[in-house]
Amino acid sequence: MAGKMLSLLPPLLLAAAGLAGLLLLCVPTRDVREPPALKYGIVLDAGSSHTSMFIYKWPADKENDTGIVGQHSSCDVHGGGISSYADNPSRAGQSLVECLDQALQQVPKERHGDTPLYLGATAGMRLLNMTSPEASASVLAAVTQTLTQYPFDFRGAHILSGQDEGVFGWVTANYLLENFIKYGWVGRWFRPRKGTLGAMDLGGASTQITFETASPAEDPANEVQLWLYGQPYRVYTHSFLCYGRDQVLLRLLASALQTHGFHPCWPRGYSTQVLPQDVYESPCVASQQPQAFNSSARVSLSGTSDPALCRSLVVRLFNFSSCRFSRCSFNGIFQPPVAGKFIAFSAFFYTMDFLRTVMGLSVATVQQLEVAVVTVCNQTWSELQARAPGQRAHLPHYCAGAMFMQQLLSRGYGFHERTFGGVTFQKKAGDATVGWALGYMLNLTNMIPAEPPALRKGTDFGAWVVLVLLSAILLLAATVLLLCRACVAKGSSAI
Ligand SMILES: *[C@@H]1O[C@H](CO)[C@@H](O)[C@H](O)[C@H]1NC(C)=O
Ligand SMILES: *[C@@H]1O[C@H](CO)[C@@H](O)[C@H](O)[C@H]1NC(C)=O
Ligand SMILES: *[C@@H]1O[C@H](CO)[C@@H](O)[C@H](O)[C@H]1NC(C)=O
Ligand SMILES: *[C@@H]1O[C@H](CO)[C@@H](O)[C@H](O)[C@H]1NC(C)=O
Ligand SMILES: *[C@@H]1O[C@H](CO)[C@@H](O)[C@H](O)[C@H]1NC(C)=O
Ligand SMILES: *[C@@H]1O[C@H](CO)[C@@H](O)[C@H](O)[C@H]1NC(C)=O
Repeated sequence: MAGKMLSLLPPLLLAAAGLAGLLLLCVPTRDVREPPALKYGIVLDAGSSHTSMFIYKWPADKENDTGIVGQHSSCDVHGGGISSYADNPSRAGQSLVECLDQALQQVPKERHGDTPLYLGATAGMRLLNMTSPEASASVLAAVTQTLTQYPFDFRGAHILSGQDEGVFGWVTANYLLENFIKYGWVGRWFRPRKGTLGAMDLGGASTQITFETASPAEDPANEVQLWLYGQPYRVYTHSFLCYGRDQVLLRLLASALQTHGFHPCWPRGYSTQVLPQDVYESPCVASQQPQAFNSSARVSLSGTSDPALCRSLVVRLFNFSSCRFSRCSFNGIFQPPVAGKFIAFSAFFYTMDFLRTVMGLSVATVQQLEVAVVTVCNQTWSELQARAPGQRAHLPHYCAGAMFMQQLLSRGYGFHERTFGGVTFQKKAGDATVGWALGYMLNLTNMIPAEPPALRKGTDFGAWVVLVLLSAILLLAATVLLLCRACVAKGSSAI
């Protein structure tokens, strides 16, 4: 009996070794290895209405891989956008201090010196630079002065062009969703077949639309050619200045003052005092300024919840009368037909989220969107307040915002039932906020190489396959041996 047990020992040991090998190989290597050193990067997104700070991080040894950079944390700067400090630039710098102090805590001290820090300003500063280049220069100087006082590797404060803003938003979205290249289970990089996603951004002072097209743009101002990971991309982009949400609300307010003396997009029961000076101050509204008005006399304006009149105010923001190309979106701007899937973020997301979650409306089609907008615009002030008691400051403006979004998407950009089905409204991809900031940093740190990545992981993967096969063969051999012993034992006991 003891002899029989002894003869079973070798195959059992073999089986144990095989099993152990397989188990060890299946444990994710990430959990076993030391965590790789992390690198960090900081971008301040200085928008027209507010500034946000994003801290990104990535494993130092994988700098050029797609989808590797993640968002470590973010911080919302209190107060308005940096362009709102035109009269007192030093306060623009001061406003950033709280978030920067937070960054000092969140980025490990030994990394401070090699953490790049960028400030990018968008349409709010583009407008200020148009009305007063001196004021915009002194605001940039003031924020630069604050940023250089920190131990980070400060790389400058700049105003992005509308084209950059659009393209970097597109890069961010497609990078986060790994649409450029993907590291597959077969151990090599490949280009996902799903293609890239178009990007639509709605900021406070401008709105951008960016998507890949097959045909060349008829207006070179709308075309950007990119080489990313060895692949060429032809991208259409346009940024409409003064078509951001806040500027649109101001322009509608100006037309409401002039043509009606009441505001059809505001809810019935809501009324407020308007100072004409505040309305006409923006260069987006200046052309609507009447010849004679008393800029310091407050005007009382009340809402009437009138969807049809509100629509007619919004429609007047778009000019379809002339197009010198084969096709235009509006205001004579060339645009090929929208194609493929899109992601719509920032204020597009917030507006859609209000329709869906606060109003409880289903918005899956162009027609449902139209119905939803009419429903919001027909709400009285007390009905709206009952639905979202916490949002008092924003509530009166959801009708105008939603009406504008609907007109922009359907009539402006030309989305119809089929193409609208391919638009998703989201503000994040994974843990990261979708916006131009990440794409801006990736470009400025050269983290998206123009060449295709090397197949350096392939060898690791090959070794892994061989080890798995060896362990499996070991296990199989042990099982066969055990079975044979069992057969022999059975046979001998039968005799
Ligand atoms: C990333 O790419 C750049 C240029 O393509 C190269 O110089 C750099 O060494 C690469 N970094 C890593 C970590 O592979
Ligand atoms: C302001 O606008 C002018 C003219 O478009 C441009 O040359 C200049 O670079 C802008 N200023 C900044 C700080 O971007
Ligand atoms: C403008 O309005 C202010 C405040 O209501 C008033 O004091 C002033 O007299 C007005 N000026 C003119 C020219 O009407
Ligand atoms: C529309 O644009 C054309 C050409 O730029 C211009 O002549 C016309 O006045 C504009 N119409 C409106 C309503 O702004
Ligand atoms: C607005 O709502 C009222 C009821 O509150 C309804 O009678 C009316 O038909 C609605 N109007 C529109 C345009 O939906
Ligand atoms: C990114 O940076 C490179 C220079 O490093 C530049 O040539 C390229 O145009 C930039 N890409 C975009 C989209 O601006």
